[in-house]
Amino acid sequence: MAYENLLINDEDGILVVTINREKALNALNTQTMLELGRFFTEDALQRENVKGVILTGAGEKAFVAGADIKEFLGLDATKGQEMAQRGQDVFFAIERFPKPVIALVNGFALGGGCELSMACHMRIATENARFGQPEVNLGIIPGYGGTQRLIQYIGKSKAIELLLTGDMIKADEALRLGLVNYVLPAEEAMGKAKELIGKTATKGPIAIAKVIESVNAYFQHDEDGFAREVSEFGYTTGTEDFKEGAQAFIEKRPADFKGE
Ligand code: CAA
Repeated sequence: MAYENLLINDEDGILVVTINREKALNALNTQTMLELGRFFTEDALQRENVKGVILTGAGEKAFVAGADIKEFLGLDATKGQEMAQRGQDVFFAIERFPKPVIALVNGFALGGGCELSMACHMRIATENARFGQPEVNLGIIPGYGGTQRLIQYIGKSKAIELLLTGDMIKADEALRLGLVNYVLPAEEAMGKAKELIGKTATKGPIAIAKVIESVNAYFQHDEDGFAREVSEFGYTTGTEDFKEGAQAFIEKRPADFKGE
């Protein structure tokens, strides 16, 4: 299959995919998103003897500097929602890909670029890598999963700071926060990514796919936990035990709960 913006090299079963828009710092325009979607949902699945995928950006400056802002001027509320949904669908396909997908983050990973790296199963950063979700600078929010996956990796406290300030963090800080697996000099990063995929390729392939599925399942919210809490709190306040507990507190005596 021909790609305009992706370079694909099969290196002994490891598919090295390079987003090839160096002059635009590998920004994700519509065409690139379509190609990433096609690659992960068709091409890569149909190929035989695939051990895994390494995703990186062309040049030495950027992994991906975000969604292509030059395409933004035609957006309105409806088109924006469609764009975010299409993007999330592509990134879910990466997250659900049955072989390991490693982002080799070789420079700026901003906005959609940070989100793309987070959709991959592991991240190896070069020392010059920078991560951030600067969408608020443009008056928008992340649309390709950034508000959700950043929390999954680094926790709410730091995630909300980065999302609200739009600040960038350096590779060593990303490592400290648990956003990346390794930080390495540029010349060592590809070797490490290949080593990791090589190791997984010696394991049971079904087990590898099932580990990926099971880890993903942890984050599937079939239920709204906060809404559940409201409902269960209401239930307990309707019990005899609650009346007894509150009364006992006020009367400064131990509660005599009946389980009713
Ligand atoms: N979209 C389109 N073009 C981009 C781009 C982007 N996200 N990021 C950089 N470029 C282009 C620049 O316009 C410039 O092109 P020209 O030479 O034609 O002007 C070229 O790449 C080089 O960029 P700079 O001259 O800006 O390089 P710099 O070294 O001065 O700065 C940078 C680098 C800090 C990464 C800066 O380019 C930047 O801030 N880029 C935008 C980052 C951003 O806001 N990303 C979020 C996008 S919104 C998003 O992703 C939404 C979502 O979740 C779906």
